[in-house]
Amino acid sequence: MSVTSSKVVIIGSGLVGTSIAYSSVIQGICTELVLIDAKKEKAKGEVMDLSHGLPFTSPMEIRGGEYEDCIGANVIVITAGSNQKPGESRLALAQKNVDILRSILEQILRVEQQAILLLVTNPVDVLTTITRSYSELKANRVIGSGTVLDTARFRYILSQHCQISPGSVHAYVVGEHGDSEVPLFSSVSVAGTPFSLLCQECNRSCGRDYQKEVIAEVRKAAYEIINRKGATYFGIGLSCTRILKAILNDERSVLTVSALLDDQYKEFGVAISVPSVLGKEGILRRLPLSITETENAQFLKSVRAIQESVHQIK
Ligand code: LAC
Repeated sequence: MSVTSSKVVIIGSGLVGTSIAYSSVIQGICTELVLIDAKKEKAKGEVMDLSHGLPFTSPMEIRGGEYEDCIGANVIVITAGSNQKPGESRLALAQKNVDILRSILEQILRVEQQAILLLVTNPVDVLTTITRSYSELKANRVIGSGTVLDTARFRYILSQHCQISPGSVHAYVVGEHGDSEVPLFSSVSVAGTPFSLLCQECNRSCGRDYQKEVIAEVRKAAYEIINRKGATYFGIGLSCTRILKAILNDERSVLTVSALLDDQYKEFGVAISVPSVLGKEGILRRLPLSITETENAQFLKSVRAIQESVHQIK
């Protein structure tokens, strides 16, 4: 069997970077995985720890590296930066993390301009917008993890309620990865049956109040986790591995990643999450939103929240 080589570089060996690394190793998504961190010994320790699991996984080369090791990467994942403290919003991290991002991008772009960049650091839509302004990069290759995790949370919560596997519950969260994100109840379906019909069938009360509760639960999920354990990382780790798989396997899967492309959403001028087709060239196209007027108003409000934050960046 021939193995096609694929290389993923993860910048930042904190909880998020290493969770992406761990789930990527378990799922055997690439043949080469490089961890880069300003704290070299930390990255080395993580590489040792991950490598000791290799007898139980698909073959993979895992190593620590320098920015020069970005050369030839299929995808470079950026996770470095400060994370939310209890009660702190993602947008509050903007200036601090943009400053860190700029120095990282400078070092990456010195050696590699062809790789797809996957931004994960928060506020991810702001960082994706800033990265997009580096003209060496092709727009469809600058991707933010966006609302992929929020979409997963939405599907999970609904799956618990409906007692149906989350994999069979189709639903999407669009907009900002943050407080203004928009879980689209109008898009929820199981086997083509919309949520409204499913509810009639179960004979339970899943009306407007229930929908409001779910929307709040999706939006507050990260705060709830941070209050309890100080940080979120497993969910985002699996979400990013899902994005990486879609790219590396040229799947053409639809995921709600964030980007700023020359397409129907261009007028917003900022990176925003909508259902997008992902393959080995990055984002192949983004789908039009089929949503209610109320949802559209919330979506535009979410776009404004990102615009305001981007405008404040120095
Ligand atoms: C979260 C972080 C990744 O939502 O923003 O868990």
